[in-house]
Amino acid sequence: FDAVDVIRTKRDGLVLSDAQIDWVIDAYTRGVVAHEQMSALAMAIWLNGMERPEIARWTQAMIASGERMDFSSLSKPTADKHSTGGVGDKITLPLAPLVAVFDVAVPQLSGRGLGHTGGTLDKLESIPGWRADLSNAEMLAQLEDLGAVICAAGAGLAPADKRLYALRDTTGTVESIPLIASSIMSKKIAEGTGSLVLDVKVGSGAFMKTLDDARELARTMVDLGTDAGVRTSALLTDMSTPLGLTAGNALEVRESVEVLAGGGPQDVVDLTVALAEEMLRLAGRPDADPRAALADGRAMDVWRRMIAAQGGDPDAPLPTARHTDVVTADADGVLDSLDAYAVGIAAWRLGAGRAKQGDPVQAGAGVELHAKPGEAVRAGQPLLTLHSDDEARFARAREALDGAVGIEPAAEGADASGASAGT
Ligand code: URA
Repeated sequence: FDAVDVIRTKRDGLVLSDAQIDWVIDAYTRGVVAHEQMSALAMAIWLNGMERPEIARWTQAMIASGERMDFSSLSKPTADKHSTGGVGDKITLPLAPLVAVFDVAVPQLSGRGLGHTGGTLDKLESIPGWRADLSNAEMLAQLEDLGAVICAAGAGLAPADKRLYALRDTTGTVESIPLIASSIMSKKIAEGTGSLVLDVKVGSGAFMKTLDDARELARTMVDLGTDAGVRTSALLTDMSTPLGLTAGNALEVRESVEVLAGGGPQDVVDLTVALAEEMLRLAGRPDADPRAALADGRAMDVWRRMIAAQGGDPDAPLPTARHTDVVTADADGVLDSLDAYAVGIAAWRLGAGRAKQGDPVQAGAGVELHAKPGEAVRAGQPLLTLHSDDEARFARAREALDGAVGIEPAAEGADASGASAGT
């Protein structure tokens, strides 16, 4: 095969053959196909799309580029969740211990943040002592013992995707349904989970901005999982405004612990419970009551043991940023929008995220929300608190938030608290 022929095939809108796909993924993983060739092919896929059988073969080839994990030695079923990424999306933290309460093993292989979306591992690393890297044997032992593990995906899982994802990030080819679906599902199928619930985000803070695109992405991924023998389903959930009241590493851990203690913001609790119910249904526990396990402390018990098993101290105070800066409402009315993407960029600029792989993140940095869309606000009232170790970052974070807050004047004499806005 010749890389140029493969590129030309897709450039001309034709269907790649199985042999072409197998060859190009393998050759790219081995460094035989050059980055510039793969980026031309990724752009051709972005422009011309792929048919379902092509996406399935592409996914299989990415799985075959690395190792497959095997949880069949465990005494319990496995269930995993994957979110397509958002702002303030800390759901994995309360969800993994919550599902484990019901004797289902949750192998949550997670990543770090890049750009405006946060990373689960960065969040957990704000807990003093906690470590993300576990060997496969440690992971299996913890799954058998506690049922929940959140750790870094080893380098052996879908290495083709690691190369391709980094390339897409720098070539404007991330937002492609075939490329996103195959990227996510190759890792999840290689991980070997028995069931998988996909949380497909829609809105400004998500990769998919419209419901139609999100639905097509969800359908594509569910079909890929099902065809590979993984019980897979998807929820489409809103990412037009941040989830919960925090975006940032330690800030999100604090909020997750509130949820595990039976409190926390309603949207975080509701999404955690909805995803838990779906995971438990797929794993054969349809009668489990996850809301009760949040209320009575069982999920918190698993969380504490899970953190301690990975070297963390669940009782240690979480780091806080050295400086804060408060953004206030500029008018009376009803908050009708608080843009997720802008808040994500602000949190990133404050130091919660990294500009390139390998940069350090600040544990305490981020954005705290004091109101959510639909709530009445008064001029001068605090809307957001920005947190950073570095005061010089506040100006750039405020720039990112320019135009991100929409306040509708309340109608004369109306009860603002009764007004409704899209949340
Ligand atoms: N997450 C992934 O793992 N891959 C994508 O392409 C997008 C989100």
